[in-house]
Amino acid sequence: MERTLAIIKPDAVSRNLIGSFISRIESNEFNVVAIKRAWLTKGLAERFYAVHKERPFFNSLTDFMSSGPVVLMVLEHENAIMGWRELMGATNPAEAAEGTIRKEFGLDLERNSSHGSDSPENAAFEIKFFFSETEILP
Ligand code: RTP
Ligand code: MG
Repeated sequence: MERTLAIIKPDAVSRNLIGSFISRIESNEFNVVAIKRAWLTKGLAERFYAVHKERPFFNSLTDFMSSGPVVLMVLEHENAIMGWRELMGATNPAEAAEGTIRKEFGLDLERNSSHGSDSPENAAFEIKFFFSETEILP
């Protein structure tokens, strides 16, 4: 079993899509082993996305991620990291495959509705960033 950090981004939470996300997650047999709603500060979003700090979109991305509430989740599944990214689809919703979450819910390259960790190292960092061990229950 592997764990990944998933985020329902502000554009999706504000459109009342939390239930749609969770239903997709559960019908694909991922277990939600931790979940909470949060409103990130700009500073927290900057620390979370620190890997992108040199990118031209960093300021806009961290403004967006702190623009409204998000839902943070730890998902468990075999190959959870790649499996969740597959279910989300390509970063740009316009390029995401039919049937993926970003294709269905994403608005544009930035407001693409969801986040998923991209490697075991980043998943460990991102899960620890938002959750303590006692909040993650089997
Ligand atoms: P994420 O980290 O959110 O799961 O997305 P990802 O791996 O598919 O994409 P990544 O390259 O890590 O980019 C992080 C987020 O930044 C926004 N973005 N904006 N304006 C742009 O060129 C641009 N490129 C990326 C997206 O919200 C993307 O998910
Ligand atoms: Mg990424």
